[in-house]
This record gives sequence, structure tokens and C-alpha cells, in this order.
Amino acid sequence: MAKKRVAVFASGSGSNFEAVVSASVRDAASPYEVALLVCDKPGAGAIERAERLGVPVYAVRPKSYASREAYEADVVRELRERGIDFIVLAGYMRLVTSVLLDAFENRILNIHPSLLPAFPGLHAVEQALAYGAKVAGVTVHFVDGGMDSGAIIAQEALAVLPDDTADTLYPRVQVIEHRLYPAVVRAFAEDRVRLDGRRVVVEGGLGL
Ligand code: GRF
Repeated sequence: MAKKRVAVFASGSGSNFEAVVSASVRDAASPYEVALLVCDKPGAGAIERAERLGVPVYAVRPKSYASREAYEADVVRELRERGIDFIVLAGYMRLVTSVLLDAFENRILNIHPSLLPAFPGLHAVEQALAYGAKVAGVTVHFVDGGMDSGAIIAQEALAVLPDDTADTLYPRVQVIEHRLYPAVVRAFAEDRVRLDGRRVVVEGGLGL
């Protein structure tokens, strides 16, 4: 079967982007390939990684468009031109509009460094520490028009240690992210992720 073509959107360092790419490159039988990086931040680490990994980059400047919708319409055109099947957000620091959501209905995934619905938005690990949470975690979910509010596909928890700071906790969160996200992307590419209202079933599991 033809591999599904994935576009990853990233604004930052791109370590999750790289994890998703690497998992597909390591496995000749991968059901997906990352066919494009969309990056809205000039100089973002993700761009350097894409160059090293041989992934084409669509570097965008959202501010140069009249509106968020006009910006996304341009991105949708690019995605269609490249035959993209679904979208993986990986540290993409913007809310998406109905332009992208309608063009890729139930085909946009995101990863967030907390156990949602706790601590949505920016600095989730710092939020969890400041709150005094004893358990932190990672969530992979469908994207809707809200802030980290879409249906949850997968979650994994880890303990917050008494002396943890963001500098010690976040690297442990990222180890989980780099394992969990490629597994979800693979399951999605294999059409094993079923959405039923807010409930999601991964048929056959994630194999983790
Ligand atoms: C990750 O922690 C992800 O959960 C959040 O943004 C961060 C991106 O990190 N949405 P990286 O750029 O993939 O290293």
C-alpha cells in the first residue's frame, strides 16, 4: 500500500518532528512518510533538522498575509499540491482556524506536554510544577478550534519528583513524547484510530 504523506507543522526546536521522521525512516514498512515540514518561525531548529533529514520545508510568514484565514488557505493549497494526507502539529505555536480544520477534518493531530484537560496552553510543565501536581504527562489528541481541547487519542503519565524543576522534568516528558507520537502517527496512518464523539479507540493498540 502507498505510504500516507504527512505534513508536520513546527515552530520550535523540532525534536518531535525529528522523532516522527526517524521512526518512519528506520522502518522500511512504515505506513507513512513525512513529506513536508511547515515552519512559521525563521531560524527555528526544526528547519535545520529538516535539512539534515532531507525533508522539504515550506517556510511561512503568517504576518505577511491579510488574515489567519488567508495564511491557512495558502498552506492548504501547498498541502494539496504535495498530496498530503494528514497533519501532525509538533510545537506549532498557533491556534488553527476553520480553514485548515475543514480542509483536513479529523486529520490533524497534536501533542501536548501535560495530562489534558489539566494545564492546556503555554508552559504546561511549569504550570504542573507550580500547581504542585504529583503526576505529569503527555497527551496526543485531535485538533479542534480550541486550545488543546480536541478528543484524546493517547496519554502517558510520569511521576513528578520532589526536587523537580522544569529543567529536570521536561527532558523526561520529552522522552515519552518521542516514543508516543511516532506510535500514534503510525496507528493513524494505518487507519486504526477511530473517533466516536469525544472517545477515541486505537484498534490493535499502540504497541508500546
Ligand atoms: C513539545 O513539548 C510538545 O508537546 C509541545 O511543544 C513542544 C515541542 O517541542 N506542543 P519540540 O520542538 O518538538 O522539541
